Amino acid sequence: MPRTRPVAAPLFALALLLAPTGAALAQDMAGSGVAPGEAGNSAERPLEFAVVAPADAALAIVVGSAALPDWVPLTDAERAGIAAAVAAAKFEGKAGETLSLRGIGARPRLLLVGVGAEPTAVDFASAGGKAAQELSGENAPVAIIGLPDAVGVAEAALGYRLGGYRFDRYRTGAGGPPPAQPVTFVHADAAGARAAYEARQAGVAEGVRFARDLINEPANVVYPESFVARTRAAFWGIADVEIEVLDEAAMRRLGMGAILGVGQGSPRPPRLMLVTYRGADGPPLALAGKGITFDSGGLSIKDSEGMERMKADMSGAAAVVGTVLSLARTRAPVHVVAVAALAENMPDGNAQRVGDVVRTVSGKTIEVVNTDAEGRLVLADAVQYVAERRNPFAIVDIATLTGGAVTALGPEFAGLFARDDAIAERIEAVATRVGEPVWRLPLHPNYARAVRSDIADVKNSGASPAPSASSGAHFIEAFIAADMAWAHIDMAPTMWAATAGPLTPKGPTGYGVRLLDMLAREWRPER
Ligand code: BES
Ligand code: MN
Ligand code: ZN
Repeated sequence: MPRTRPVAAPLFALALLLAPTGAALAQDMAGSGVAPGEAGNSAERPLEFAVVAPADAALAIVVGSAALPDWVPLTDAERAGIAAAVAAAKFEGKAGETLSLRGIGARPRLLLVGVGAEPTAVDFASAGGKAAQELSGENAPVAIIGLPDAVGVAEAALGYRLGGYRFDRYRTGAGGPPPAQPVTFVHADAAGARAAYEARQAGVAEGVRFARDLINEPANVVYPESFVARTRAAFWGIADVEIEVLDEAAMRRLGMGAILGVGQGSPRPPRLMLVTYRGADGPPLALAGKGITFDSGGLSIKDSEGMERMKADMSGAAAVVGTVLSLARTRAPVHVVAVAALAENMPDGNAQRVGDVVRTVSGKTIEVVNTDAEGRLVLADAVQYVAERRNPFAIVDIATLTGGAVTALGPEFAGLFARDDAIAERIEAVATRVGEPVWRLPLHPNYARAVRSDIADVKNSGASPAPSASSGAHFIEAFIAADMAWAHIDMAPTMWAATAGPLTPKGPTGYGVRLLDMLAREWRPER
């Protein structure tokens, strides 16, 4: 306490003395000098849709080639200036290409953004993201023009909000807030463009940004209980949403020994959270996400190299909750339940030991041969519980599960596992369309055998020769009924971007929301 506040110090001490242990603990956990501030971060320009661009706006022009379409409202002098610059820079309008120009005409800046001759939805989104990134510091309104139709505008608006995402809540000092003048998406059918955006992409943008906020937060701020609290706040007031939270006592009553075992080495207790959005009747699609708010490895402790990224080991849970936020916000006619299996994997004196045997909610037993293979443990209880209680027509789980998937695939693909080719093809197609690609990896009876245990039903780490990502998938499969439609997405490869892309800043990506959102909108139970 600073000396200038003589009254505050004793009051503070008194408050600590009187506070119940739980509250004192909560204060300590949020602490370490880092306040879990409520301050909004990554302030965004307000989004507008209009038929003409504001006269003083920096203009981003989306083009498919070096030629500017006739209908782009530019003076002859501006056209001549741009043509000269395009020729000098050898700008071709290919997807991903940009050309930034100043001093032409009256506008503060002109930015050409290429999408290529046959642009996809992802190209339009990427153009929006590029515009957001390149014009972020421009102290003027921004306008984006040149998109072919309302759907293209909506994609670009989504891309703008994803590419422009920043997590700067804890950065004090220089810079100040980013410019707050609006960004206007210009199209002849401005009303149609706004409607297309609001019908879907506004929800997706919010879901991804919510997931990214949760993932970016350090693990002293987002832990199982605060993950739940933030979810409740995000869904506040949205109709047809129900949030069910199981605390430790409830999990113990139900016999969820696997998630309890993972959480028992941390003073921050685990939670199982189900977020249901009922926008249609019939059985739901269940989306189960690994929610390890920090993965130290437990007693099978990780080495320090890269361990700070393990605050992102709840990216699967963030993806499923972000997906339901997107669907509920846009009133999608679907029934979906997200299951977030939340725990912190820590090595304290009560931590789970190597060799412990735990019993899951269905009674199946697990030998814990590696406490660092914890994601599959929390998911074991989660998938069984949701299958039993909610009768889903399919279960898709998503998890930052294995370093093996990272080694196999690099940063461009998440690993996909499915028993059923039709399900695999459905997910592959959706993933490609939204720009969150997956690559199918093998299940094999010999790899399933690798997770058999000598003293329990299964063990949580596979024996040779099973590849690590495959044995992880088979472990989860052991808790899925044979007749259940199921897929497993190992998103360890795509959890964290080493470099920024047009739709993702460097760092946590929020991977999975776009993929699962599209999957849920299109996948209906068979009647
Ligand atoms: N969370 C990790 C996997 C991970 C690694 C995610 C790198 C993202 C980046 C997971 O809990 C883990 O530790 N997996 C182990 C499993 C092994 C002990 C069977 C792994 O992959 O090494
Ligand atoms: Mn681990
Ligand atoms: Zn993990």
